[in-house]
Amino acid sequence: MLHAICYISTASSDFNDTEIAGLMAKWKQKNSDLDIKGILLFSVGNFFQVLEGEKAKVLELFSGVMKDTRHTSIIQVLGQDVVKGSLDGYKTEHITRNFSRPDLIRDYCEAVKGMDRTIQEQLKKFLETFIDTRVF
Ligand SMILES: Cc1cc2nc3c(=O)[nH]c(=O)nc-3n(C[C@H](O)[C@H](O)[C@H](O)COP(=O)(O)O)c2cc1C
Repeated sequence: MLHAICYISTASSDFNDTEIAGLMAKWKQKNSDLDIKGILLFSVGNFFQVLEGEKAKVLELFSGVMKDTRHTSIIQVLGQDVVKGSLDGYKTEHITRNFSRPDLIRDYCEAVKGMDRTIQEQLKKFLETFIDTRVF
């Protein structure tokens, strides 16, 4: 059984560009080894993550992520069994000041387009909220 999780959280400390790029690359590799697909965005101190894969693996990973002291205020907005795998690989992005909102929404909605229609709509709303509540 496949399972999908989405959450939003706040970084506990200021990560610089190099640190965040290093962590994202390391986690991307680990997820690839576990055949876990997803999205990880970092924007002005906040994370947005979607994880999808074999249920036991996703739940085990998420249980470690929840205990990780590098972030706090974790709000899980999706936790659902999914019938068929729908995400393609693992996309990560550090959203900085000069980003194109329409391009970002389009790219990430494209990434989830294989998912159940209701989940897609929910994720799109969370993604838009995540992007629009950024305060510089
Ligand atoms: C916001 C956030 C997202 C994370 N995402 C992942 C992830 O997608 N994959 C992963 O392996 N670890 C991720 N981690 C790290 C895990 O919490 C944890 O440190 C790691 O899985 C433990 O692996 P280790 O015991 O082998 O070091 C994330 C941590 C944070 C703070």
